Amino acid sequence: MTQEDASLEARLEEQEQFEPPESFVEQANVSDPGVYEEFEENWPECWERAADLLSWDSEYDTVLEDGDAPFYEWFTGGELNASYNCLDRHVEEGAKNRAAIKWEGELGETRTYTYGDLLNEVEAFAATLRDLGVEEDDVVTLYMPMVPELPIAMLACARIGAPHSVVFAGFSADALATRMNSADSEYLVTCDGYYRRGDALDHISKTNEGLEDVDHEVSDVVVVDRLGDALDHSLSANQHDYDDLVDEHAGASVEPVSRDAEDMLFLMYTSGTTGQPKGVKHTTGGYLAYTAWTSQAVLDVKPEDTYWCSADIGWITGHSYIVYGPLALGTTTVMYEGTPDYPEKDRLWEIVEKNRVDIFYTAPTAIRAFMKWGKQYPERYDLSSLRLLGTVGEPINPRAWKWYYQHIGNEDCPVVDTWWQTETGGMMITTLPGINTMKPGSAGPPLPGIGAKVVDANGEEVDAGQAGYVMVDKPWPGMLRTLYQNDDRFITEYWQEYSDEDADEWTYFPEDGAKIDDDGYITILGRVDDVVNVSGHRLGTMEIESAVVGVEGIAEAAVVGGDHEIKGEAVYVYAIPEDGYDAGDELAERAIQGVVDSIGPIAKPEEVIFTPELPKTRSGKIMRRLLEDIASGNELGNTSTLRNPDVVDDIAEQAESN
Ligand code: WTA
Repeated sequence: MTQEDASLEARLEEQEQFEPPESFVEQANVSDPGVYEEFEENWPECWERAADLLSWDSEYDTVLEDGDAPFYEWFTGGELNASYNCLDRHVEEGAKNRAAIKWEGELGETRTYTYGDLLNEVEAFAATLRDLGVEEDDVVTLYMPMVPELPIAMLACARIGAPHSVVFAGFSADALATRMNSADSEYLVTCDGYYRRGDALDHISKTNEGLEDVDHEVSDVVVVDRLGDALDHSLSANQHDYDDLVDEHAGASVEPVSRDAEDMLFLMYTSGTTGQPKGVKHTTGGYLAYTAWTSQAVLDVKPEDTYWCSADIGWITGHSYIVYGPLALGTTTVMYEGTPDYPEKDRLWEIVEKNRVDIFYTAPTAIRAFMKWGKQYPERYDLSSLRLLGTVGEPINPRAWKWYYQHIGNEDCPVVDTWWQTETGGMMITTLPGINTMKPGSAGPPLPGIGAKVVDANGEEVDAGQAGYVMVDKPWPGMLRTLYQNDDRFITEYWQEYSDEDADEWTYFPEDGAKIDDDGYITILGRVDDVVNVSGHRLGTMEIESAVVGVEGIAEAAVVGGDHEIKGEAVYVYAIPEDGYDAGDELAERAIQGVVDSIGPIAKPEEVIFTPELPKTRSGKIMRRLLEDIASGNELGNTSTLRNPDVVDDIAEQAESN
C-alpha cells in the first residue's frame, strides 16, 4: 500500500457519516426531504404515487382495503398486466430499440434484447405456454439458471395470468419436487445445464430426478438448450425443446390478460422456522407498484440507465430488482450468468466498464470477497460510469461498506444498504440516496410510508442504542398477501407475535433483531429465528437438520449458523452418531452429502462436529445459542442452567481440534 492509500484508508476508517455527493443529489429521482412528511400525512393515499408509475387497464377504486386485516388488499378494483407494464407500454412510447436486457454468459458470449425483441420473445413463449394448455391461474414452475429465457418465461407467465414459481437452479432435485408438490404445479420450464467456472453443469439430470418425486402428473416440461453439444441428453415424451416450440410460435401476438390488482403474480418459496418451505404469495398490482417505486426512489433508476443487480433471479432480489422493478421503469437491466471470479477476479468490473453500468446492486458477502481479493482488480477498469451502489441480503460491516464506497464508488457514489425480505416484496429500511446522510453499518430510516420500529419483547419501542426486534405496524403495497394455501400459517408466522387481535391491530414481525439510534437509523443485527444467512441466502436450520438425521448412522443433530469471514454465516452441524457407527470422516462426508442432496450446495456444512450428547436445557430443548457461540468462537455465557453442562467443554474442544 502506498502512503497516500494508507492515509486515505485511515481517514475513511474514522469517518462515521457520509453525505450524498452534490452531483448525485442534483439529478436524483427523489431529493425533496419533504417526501417523508408527505407520505406520513397522506397515508395510505400516498401510495397512489407508486401506483401512478404503472399503466392500469382499469383504475382502482380503493388504495387500501383493510376490512379483513391482516389479509390486506391494495388498489382494489384495479386491473393491469405486469408484462404489459414491463414491455408493451415502453414500446408504444417509442423505446422499441432501447436495450431491455443485456445478458452475458460465463464464457463471454453476449445477447442484447431490445424492448421490441423482448416483447416478441415473450409473446412467442406466452403463445407456447397457452398451446401446451397452461390456463390463467395455473402455477408454472421455472427451474432455471441465469439465462435470458428465465425472465422471458416469467413475463410470458405474467402475460397470460399464470403465476410463476421460480426455483433457484442451485437447489436440489428434492427441493424442486417439494415446491412443485406444494404448488400443485403441472408445468415446468427448465434448462439442460449452465456454466460454472468454465465447466458445463448438468441441470437436466437433477430436474429428472426431482420430477420422479412429484406426486401428481406433470403435463409438460420445456427444456432450454443452453449447452448445445456440451451435454449429451435426450428428452422424454412430455419434454419439449424450448427453441423448437418458440420457433413454431414466432411472430405470435398474445394479448396481455387484464389481471385484478390482487391476483397472484408469483409464488416464491422461502425458508422459515419449520422444515417446510413457505410459499410466499405476491400480487400483480401492489407488488409491481412497490418494486417500481423503490427502484425509482432508492436505486434512482432512470430509463436511460444501465442498471445491474448481480443477484440470481432465483431469489426475491432478482425478481424485484433484476426483472420487475427495472423493467417496469423501462431501463436496461444487465444479467450475468456466472461467478465473479471467472476467468479472473476482475470479471464484474470488466462487465461494469464494458456496459458503462450506472447503478450496481450486490450483496455484502460479495463485497467481502472483493475486499479479500484486493483493489488491484477494480483498479484495472474504468468504473467512472457508476452513479449509485447498493447492497442487500445481510448486515454489512462498516469496513466492507467503506471499501465498497472507496474502491468501487471512488467516493462519488452514495451507497444504499437496503433491508427487506422475500415477504416484503421490496425494500423497507434504507437511506434515500438523494436525501439522507449515510452511516456505514446502519441500513437507515424506514422508507417513507413504512411503519418499521424497533421494539422489545413486549412490543414497546426501545431506547436508542438498545437491542430489540424489528416490527412493522402499517401495511404496505409490496407485502406478501398470504402463504400459499395456508392462511393459518401466515398468521402464526408473521402476525401473532405483536398484534392485538381483539383490538384488530396488526403488526408484522419479520424475525430480525435490530438497534435504533437517536436519528432513527436502524441497524439490523440478524435473524432471531432458526434461519441462517449464508452468503445472503436464507436457509432454514430445521430443513438442514432433517437432511442430516436422514443420513444412515446419525442419531440426532443440531444445525446452527456460525460467523464466517466471507459468507457472513456458515452452516455448522453438531451430530450424535448412532450406536455402532464410527464418528469419523466417512460419516461426516455422508452427512455433508446428505445436505447437498436434500437442499443444494449452498447449504453445504462448513463442519460436522460429532458429540455423544447435545447441550440441552432442563426441559430438554437443544441450546442452539450456545452451539452458535461455539461455532463462532465466542466467549461462552452461563452454562449452569443446562441439564448436561459438561458436554459443552467436550464440544468446544472437539470444534477447536477440527
Ligand atoms: C437479511 C432478501 C441486514 C435479514 C432480500 C432478512 C439484511 C433476510 C439486509 C431476508 C440488510 C436482508 N441488512 N440484513 N440490508 N437485507 N437482510 O428473504 O435477516 O432472502 O430477514 O430476502 O435477510 O432474506 P430474504
